[in-house]
Amino acid sequence: ESKSQCAVLGKGGRTRYDFPDLGINTRKSIAHVRDCKTGSSGIPVKVITNLYSLLLPREWQLYQYHVTFNPEFESRRLRLALLYSHAEFLGKAKAFDGVILFLSQKLENQVTELLTETKRGETVKITITLKSKLPPSSPVCIQFFNIVFKKVLKKLSLYQVGRNFYSPSEPVVIPQHRLTLWPGFAISISQFESRVMLSVDVSHKVLCNDTVLEFMTDLYTRCDRAGFTEMCEKELIGLVVLTRYNNKTYRIDDINWSVKPTDTFPKRDGTDISYVDYYKQQYEVVLRDLNQPVLVSRLKNKQKDSIEPRIVHLIPELCYLTGLTSQARADYRLMKDLVQETRLNPERRQQRLSRLTDNIQRNSEARLELETWGLQLECQISLTGRIVPAEKILMQGEMCLPMSAGDWSKDMRNMKMLGVPSLDTWLIVCSNRNAEIVKNLLNCLRRVGGPMGFRIEYPKILHIQESTLAFLRALQQHVNPEVQLVMCVLPSNQKDCYDSIKKFLILDRPVPSQCVLARTLTKPGMMMSVATKIAMQIICKLGGELWAVEIPLKSLMVIGIDVSKDALNKGSSVVGFVASTSSRITRWSSHCIFQTTGTDIADCLKVCMKGAISKWLKHNQELPARIIVYRDGVGDGQLKMVVDYEVPQLFSSLTELSTNYSLSVVKKCIARFFAEADGSLRNPPIGTVVDTEATRPEWYDFYLVSQLVHQGTVNPTHYNVVYDDSGLKPDHMQRLTYKMCHLYYNWPGLIRVPAPCQYAHKLAFLVGQSLHREPSLELTEKLFYL
Ligand SMILES: *[C@@H]1O[C@H](CO)[C@@H](O)[C@H](O)[C@H]1NC(C)=O
Ligand SMILES: *[C@@H]1O[C@H](CO)[C@@H](O)[C@H](O)[C@H]1NC(C)=O
Ligand SMILES: *[C@@H]1O[C@H](CO)[C@@H](O)[C@H](O)[C@H]1NC(C)=O
Ligand SMILES: *[C@@H]1O[C@H](CO)[C@@H](O)[C@H](O)[C@H]1NC(C)=O
Repeated sequence: ESKSQCAVLGKGGRTRYDFPDLGINTRKSIAHVRDCKTGSSGIPVKVITNLYSLLLPREWQLYQYHVTFNPEFESRRLRLALLYSHAEFLGKAKAFDGVILFLSQKLENQVTELLTETKRGETVKITITLKSKLPPSSPVCIQFFNIVFKKVLKKLSLYQVGRNFYSPSEPVVIPQHRLTLWPGFAISISQFESRVMLSVDVSHKVLCNDTVLEFMTDLYTRCDRAGFTEMCEKELIGLVVLTRYNNKTYRIDDINWSVKPTDTFPKRDGTDISYVDYYKQQYEVVLRDLNQPVLVSRLKNKQKDSIEPRIVHLIPELCYLTGLTSQARADYRLMKDLVQETRLNPERRQQRLSRLTDNIQRNSEARLELETWGLQLECQISLTGRIVPAEKILMQGEMCLPMSAGDWSKDMRNMKMLGVPSLDTWLIVCSNRNAEIVKNLLNCLRRVGGPMGFRIEYPKILHIQESTLAFLRALQQHVNPEVQLVMCVLPSNQKDCYDSIKKFLILDRPVPSQCVLARTLTKPGMMMSVATKIAMQIICKLGGELWAVEIPLKSLMVIGIDVSKDALNKGSSVVGFVASTSSRITRWSSHCIFQTTGTDIADCLKVCMKGAISKWLKHNQELPARIIVYRDGVGDGQLKMVVDYEVPQLFSSLTELSTNYSLSVVKKCIARFFAEADGSLRNPPIGTVVDTEATRPEWYDFYLVSQLVHQGTVNPTHYNVVYDDSGLKPDHMQRLTYKMCHLYYNWPGLIRVPAPCQYAHKLAFLVGQSLHREPSLELTEKLFYL
């Protein structure tokens, strides 16, 4: 029912807001949390949220009417004018998209008929029929509130770009990188646990100071001519551009190289006009480059019946890139300077939030927009979270309780790793120039290896020339089945060299490998800590175990799933699937499949699950009693697909088993929590769980802070348990999830998501960025993707 209502609001409307995850109630089918989904263990902690409650008069309702015109009119504007010309609607709070009329007060009759006259003297009958009375929590009402707030933000001169709102009048310029930042906000209104609230977070829009044309020209000078158009398409398609003549944004869907600015196109009135003349007449801009191609953007069609998308041609000279190109993203300096501007600590973040809400209260037009509907923005919500107990880290024969759960590298110094194979037969490939560096590294590795319990034999060292070809040739000659590990010391971070090596050692002749940048081995004073990191990575890549935490559940299998794009094949994505194979949850098997659509993902999960079960059986002789899946990489609007397709597919092969399972969707969220200490705002302590107020009534969900940040504001992670027949109490589910965030072997500390999700992410990323093929099955039980 809720779905059809949402569809109605979109029809004929200008502002199509989709909140497709709205109204999906997964909690009602999870028996043991139907009445109560909150935990109780841990130390209470008061946190301030970025949520503001929306005050509504008692018994507030939204009245939804359907409006028809006789005779009918195509023009929305005319329909609006005709309806609003009636005195009944003067001064009343109303919103009308041409078909659906919302009123805050009821009309006298169920059906109202009005007679009116057009300018041409034609008589028109308007019929207004009451369709429904909507309580504030209904999905349509929630969408409606979002539209009202969009208007409010417009009154404050904030421009909408994508889903968020930005202030072009307060730009922050980063001149050294030719970038401009617009400060702004991500906002949304939702029905939270017991009331409707506005959530606000700070957002920044990055604008390049260069036009797309300048970007193309620059690319032309840097890459070879033959590959230019392909390179352009690779870099630009998918990016969003801003055209300053109307401050609108468009997504680049294609580039049409055969269209020139001097070509003509048909205007709406049917006459042809050239792009040059059009921009001159319409916006008074003169196009300088008459040989540039056009960018193609496909607009979502608002006419309900037409299938053809509306195509817009944009002139590169007039388009400014927003966001970052992959080239910019790879620029370490640029990213550092950018983070400097965008990273806000809790105190500064709170100031930005307050400024927005103060502005809404102070700006009379903005306030009026709310008041006409009887809405009022209330104060920021505080609530009580709980800090779950710290975890002990189990090493071989001993354990430690870290000083800080964020980083226990110091605490575990001189402790033996949990399970360590020895490294007897291995290769190092490096250039002649780096021979000394490698010698030094070997010394350090053996020194740090001792206390870890890691015996490292002397490797065969191959000195080669500095070229990708030389690396490959050396590998082809010397990698044989006896070799346990290959280390390549790379002279520079050239992606193609890294990709070629990884392809060879993962697809063609599968053996774990470790690529190290020569530069990282020459940082003064860092050698021992770099060597420690490398030694630990090598242990995992050989199939060893570093540390564990106490897992009270016996026979528990934990799975992480993430999805990544394939950089080579547009439209194709890589599903990474990582499942534990040991009851201590220290060993993993990995599975990876390419897919093109959402429902395909569901199908491939079944195959992955079968693979994971067979690996588990091999090591444990019996099936797992419980399976807990953490599903990351679920986009907005995909929740229904996960619930309807993925859950049944994943577990369909298990129905005959006596295994209990649960699936949680793991997501980044815009919820923020601040703790107050000594009169200022701080990040909440790690281990903080929030499962009241800021959660959703229709979900079994909670937030967990499992990341230590020294600067900036911590991102809580949102967990939505969409399926659960494990019977685990919320307390236990929360603590188990927290434990899982301790087990990522690339970092001796807590991470933001459960370790299997991070492993799945690393796997899918490596395959999508570098391999473009499914890894060899021989590596399934090694963490080769770290
Ligand atoms: C580009 O940046 C400079 C400052 O670095 C500024 O003066 C100029 O107006 C910017 N140009 C555009 C088109 O934004
Ligand atoms: C676009 O935004 C800029 C910066 O606020 C403003 O000066 C300009 O008038 C806007 N242009 C249009 C067409 O709205
Ligand atoms: C480019 O645009 C022209 C004119 O609109 C059209 O005929 C042609 O099919 C387009 N080419 C591509 C590859 O879309
Ligand atoms: C699985 O769940 C059922 C019902 O919730 C319960 O009776 C059973 O003991 C559970 N099995 C395991 C292994 O926990």
